[in-house]
Amino acid sequence: DWTPEHFVDAMVTALQDTIGETDQVILGLSGGVDSSVAALLLHRAIGPRLHGIFVDNGLLRKDEYEGVLEAYKVLGLNVRGVDASQEFYAALAGLTDPEQKRKAIGRTFIEVFDREAQKVEGARWLAQGTIYPDVIESVSVKGPAVTIKSHHNVGGLPEKMNLKIVEPLRALFKDEVREVGDALGLPHNILHRHPFPGPGLGIRILGDITPEKVAILQRADAIFIDSLKAHGLYEKVWQAGVMLLPVQSVGVMGDERTYEQVVALRAVTSVDGMTADWAHLPYDFLAEVSNKIINQVRGINRVVYDISSKPPATIEWE
Ligand code: XMP
Repeated sequence: DWTPEHFVDAMVTALQDTIGETDQVILGLSGGVDSSVAALLLHRAIGPRLHGIFVDNGLLRKDEYEGVLEAYKVLGLNVRGVDASQEFYAALAGLTDPEQKRKAIGRTFIEVFDREAQKVEGARWLAQGTIYPDVIESVSVKGPAVTIKSHHNVGGLPEKMNLKIVEPLRALFKDEVREVGDALGLPHNILHRHPFPGPGLGIRILGDITPEKVAILQRADAIFIDSLKAHGLYEKVWQAGVMLLPVQSVGVMGDERTYEQVVALRAVTSVDGMTADWAHLPYDFLAEVSNKIINQVRGINRVVYDISSKPPATIEWE
């Protein structure tokens, strides 16, 4: 019978046999379930010879980088955080086309990851959090960068550094990965995290990306996500986030006329992300989120709710 405990025991032994007693292993961590569970398995098998690399691309959710890095430290993982935000912003400057933005983010990720990986002496293996659905299908297609998740997308590194690939979750479905993560002590907030795209907020800021826009979107997004959690709605939706639109609209504040940004809230129910329905969130809840965002986030004076299903409307707006 398959149980997460049996899987962990068998996989830890298999990893020890495969990797041996001296090789070092590199793994890109994203804060998501898959890479985190892969890291915990490898950590149990080879301890600090697993070298995790967690890149801050400047497009993560508010406080995500610090929070996830801290969670990894608490779990005892040997992880290096790399704040490369400025490199990503520089690569993205002036780009407005969604595919060009994805490519710039992917390319910069590879450059940063490459550089960090080469600092690991004696590295022989590249571990990846690939799970069974990644093996059999390529998720949604919006261009070449989409079919390969960015943390899997390590360019020519395996050849360049002569690394062998190890993928301990290759045979597992998502729910099995969660069970294994639970058995390994992965905290609830990482275990039940919504999917989050590799290009992050970069494809939720329509048009060009600036650090100022990222800061505004992070604040609005945090209000939405925190409110979903506070109302017990977070785990009822499959994915949620805020889109910063390249639109300004007129508002009034006291006697003043304002001309500020519009954001769209997006929340969907889905099984696998291939099709999705807009989440029928309560009006009172939406009213509360809208008020909070408009009152607390300077630069936003209008909030709209996306009531489009996929197909044809994709979950992300870019
Ligand atoms: P769409 O927007 O195509 O998204 O309905 C379906 C799922 O895929 C995620 N997504 C991405 N994930 N790189 C990723 O790693 C990407 O470029 C990308 N684009 C979309 C999206 O967040 C949703 O979960």
